[in-house]
Amino acid sequence: RDETRMQSITDIITDTFSSAIAAAFPDITDPPVVIALSGSNPKFGDYQCNSAMPLANIYKQLGKRIAPRDIGQKIIENVQPHELIEKLEVAGPGFINIFISKNYGTKSLATIFEYGVRPPSISKRHRVLVDFSSPNIAKEMHVGHLRSTIIGESICRLLEYLGHNVIRINHVGDWGTQFGMLIAHLKDKFPNYSVESPTISDLQAFYKESKNRFDEDEEFKKRAYASVVKLQSFDPEHKKAWELICDVSRKEFQKIYDRLDVRLTERGESFYQTRMESIVKELDAAGFLELDDGRKVMWGDGTIPMTIVKSDGGFTYDTSDIAAIKHRLYEEKADWLIYVTDAGQATHFQILFGCAKRIGLLDERIHRVDHVGFGVVLGEDKKKFKTRSGDTIRLLDLLDEGLKRALEKLKEKERDKVLTPEELKEAQESVAYGCIKYADLSHNRNHEYVFSFDKMLDDKGNTAVYLLYAFTRIKSIARNANFTAEKIKELSKTHQISLEHEKEWKLGKVLLRFPDVLLKITRDLCLHHLCEYVYEVATTFSEFYDNCYCIEKDSSGDIVRVNYGRILLTEATALVLEQGFYILGLKPVSKM
Ligand code: ARG
Repeated sequence: RDETRMQSITDIITDTFSSAIAAAFPDITDPPVVIALSGSNPKFGDYQCNSAMPLANIYKQLGKRIAPRDIGQKIIENVQPHELIEKLEVAGPGFINIFISKNYGTKSLATIFEYGVRPPSISKRHRVLVDFSSPNIAKEMHVGHLRSTIIGESICRLLEYLGHNVIRINHVGDWGTQFGMLIAHLKDKFPNYSVESPTISDLQAFYKESKNRFDEDEEFKKRAYASVVKLQSFDPEHKKAWELICDVSRKEFQKIYDRLDVRLTERGESFYQTRMESIVKELDAAGFLELDDGRKVMWGDGTIPMTIVKSDGGFTYDTSDIAAIKHRLYEEKADWLIYVTDAGQATHFQILFGCAKRIGLLDERIHRVDHVGFGVVLGEDKKKFKTRSGDTIRLLDLLDEGLKRALEKLKEKERDKVLTPEELKEAQESVAYGCIKYADLSHNRNHEYVFSFDKMLDDKGNTAVYLLYAFTRIKSIARNANFTAEKIKELSKTHQISLEHEKEWKLGKVLLRFPDVLLKITRDLCLHHLCEYVYEVATTFSEFYDNCYCIEKDSSGDIVRVNYGRILLTEATALVLEQGFYILGLKPVSKM
């Protein structure tokens, strides 16, 4: 048993029942092993094995009639004893109710104080490249990019925690045709640009100006096209102009990343220019490219091809993605690629993966690829999220609004009267950025979601504010009884975590499920499972705390009795929550 890892209960049960079913029914190849969490009724145990009915069906097809209850009974007889399993019962038409052992729970949770909250074992340590955020230079970074940034960061944190080797890549759009007009406009407006760097304070206005000229002035348009060609052949002067423009965007993006505590390595489309040139030659030579109305296209397995070379000879978004996938798999040597973008790009990635398979780059026996798509962000009017005047919302303005609203919320609760100015500022930032991230992550990413500060700042329900408050409350229990982290560690050597009371055991079992939740997210990359889980931890804790005293005080407020086992349970809860919060990007504060 690996002490540096926590055990997944579902994995143990699945293994145990796989062996039992194989032993009980050796004549069935690949028998179904169906394990589920039981509902809330304690009568039905904690987990269930629901294999009896499908097995009975298999026998029926083979012409044998066996009652599912008898199958259930036979499975139970073949289960090898395991310290996790306390009791097994056949119920109803043949369900097996599985009761897990308190003794196991006590021992397992005690290791948290010795080794911390550790992740479950993984079967292979992957080198994962996560492509996320990826805004476009000079065009604005919009709420869609904010979703990608938030979801991508959490996926990276989760995979890092599980022990994978994670590469975070910002695939910025820094090479498109928009640079032709931007550079041509820069040259006209700041003829001296190569000697004296101009300050472009409003890149968006600059973009609009050049776009207007591009649309209206034929002569300008020609120069713009010529500029793209020069840039893509790395002409030094054009490169300098390009860098100037990229720098302005880069600084703006970085402000957002700093505020949200997001780490990324920039590797934009421009990085692949020479690689695009070589892969296009290779594909052409291998006969993968087809001429279509002047452009060169490539087919994967679907009905839409990728455009690899435009009729003017230029490369496209598709070309950069084909070059990038090769680089990622063969130069970066990643064996798992994750792309986080809006669901609108699902087809693009389907085609990309199909083509990559066809030309032999992608081999799904050794590589895993995921497009992590997400729905659009809507305003409270259920329409596309825009400002009142109909413009796209600047992300920095949105974050500022969050700060303002968070402070109002804290003042409404009169926190400004008890917290020091520093504590108040810390709480404000934690609430503002936490609520924006959490609102995004707690919705199933496949659905669209309505951006509403009122909802995200609610202190009831599954929100960041509720959770952050719950956490500070939990932390204050041990602190009020003068337990420091060291004292708790000492205490854990002499006392056992208390799981006797029904509410204690209920909470303990929720805590034991943490590894299972992480493994589930590794499969579907849906972080709302973790949000639901931390919410369940917090609400189950409050149920426990309402029913079980941890510290008893007399009428004058002096401590008369401390229940050490419960202090330990409280602290284990805080540690599990803290780890979950970290993955979700929530920063708990000690006072709020
Ligand atoms: N820049 C693109 C956009 O804003 C997203 C890029 C995603 N990554 C990729 N490798 N295609 O839509």
